[in-house]
Amino acid sequence: KEAKLWGGRFEEGVTDAVERFTESISFDKALYKQDIMGSRAHASMLAHQGLISVSDRDSILQGLDNIERRIEDGEFVWRTDREDVHMNIEAALTDLIGEPAKKLHTARSRNDQVLTDFRLWCRDAIDNIVARIEHLQVALVTLAMKNENLIVPGYTHLQRAQPILLQHLLLAYVEQLDRDAGRLLDCRQRLNFCPLGACALAGTGLPIDRFMTSHDLGFNAPMRNSIDAVSDRDFVLEFLSANSITAIHLSRLGEEWVLWASEEFGFLTPSDSVSTGSSIMPQKKNPDPMELVRGKSARVVGDLVTLLVLCKGLPHAYNRDLQEDKEPTFDSTKTIIGMLEVCAEFAQNITFNREKIKKALPAGHLDATTLADYLVKKGIPFRTSHDIVGKSVALCVSKNCQLQDLSLDELRSVNPVFDEDVYEFLGVENAVKKFCSYGSTGSECVAEQLDFWVTKLQIN
Ligand code: ARG
Repeated sequence: KEAKLWGGRFEEGVTDAVERFTESISFDKALYKQDIMGSRAHASMLAHQGLISVSDRDSILQGLDNIERRIEDGEFVWRTDREDVHMNIEAALTDLIGEPAKKLHTARSRNDQVLTDFRLWCRDAIDNIVARIEHLQVALVTLAMKNENLIVPGYTHLQRAQPILLQHLLLAYVEQLDRDAGRLLDCRQRLNFCPLGACALAGTGLPIDRFMTSHDLGFNAPMRNSIDAVSDRDFVLEFLSANSITAIHLSRLGEEWVLWASEEFGFLTPSDSVSTGSSIMPQKKNPDPMELVRGKSARVVGDLVTLLVLCKGLPHAYNRDLQEDKEPTFDSTKTIIGMLEVCAEFAQNITFNREKIKKALPAGHLDATTLADYLVKKGIPFRTSHDIVGKSVALCVSKNCQLQDLSLDELRSVNPVFDEDVYEFLGVENAVKKFCSYGSTGSECVAEQLDFWVTKLQIN
């Protein structure tokens, strides 16, 4: 068996079970690119500071190029006995170039190395997720553009509430996604500081230049406190929190679309390309992708909880527990990307059923609040108007009709204030037109919102 890189003081090797239990190479090899980037920057800095020779630096850089190429061509052999990505690459470099490789770990610990890699990885992951959020926003705005003037029931408590434009609802999702992207970008801003050079926890007595490596790796600055640098995982907690909130938004969207695709609602039909069938019931066409969006949000939240609990009892600085931070982060990232992708595809492949929606609109007295506003315009205090309309609705319920079906005499039997002009306020079409407050569902207000997003997302 090969001696461990840290093996100097050990008289015997670890048992197989311990080796299998403590390894992280099976998953942290995903950090290879960032690890090599970090090593390049570190070696260049060491040479610049006179800690290694220029020729040692050059052989290290060439060796790293070679290793990176072999990894990418699938020729590199990852070894469990070399524990993690850092030692796999360092040991392979030693195999390849010999002595100079042994100088690479000067003034560096795996503790600052792994965090440098991980921050770089999260930074890329955030950029990737933000791009996909934007892609989904474009899909939703495009869907809104295809569905002008479509009134749907708006719900509270899942009970009919007020008429809204479908576009208004679709743009609500777009707003939420915008804050989701904003949270990720805030997190990116805060995580973009460089731990490299913090070493194990206390820094080093060697004359390194942390500003140089930080700058080389595209960080804003080196982290100020070496203990904080190797202890901190709040950047990942923040990242996974942001993913969790995004996941919850997508889950709510998923739930809504699953509901709307049901026979009972029948408001939308997904195309076959985004539906799946049943192995026993031949007639079935299920909106599985959106159900799984709902379902997978559980994983994303679970990943966050795993990390929160992981960090809870840890003293400063590094503890091996922290190796467990990677898999939830990778899982959260992969899952949220899949969810965003499939939501966009769904949005590109659904049809809203205008006829069915239109037929559904009269039920539920969606125009009742607009009628109360009408009475307010006639000088009646709102609380009184509420009561008058409530009694009018009760009359409708007893007659099994809509507000607009009541004759003027019938309305006046509830309260004499009603006039002929009341009928301009009744019926969903009239009712929706009356909305005009900033951000409301009136068609002009929604058109303004739509314009805003079309411009912001550069759609056309
Ligand atoms: N594989 C380890 C991790 O991911 C790297 C750091 C190990 N440091 C240590 N002192 N054992 O956390």
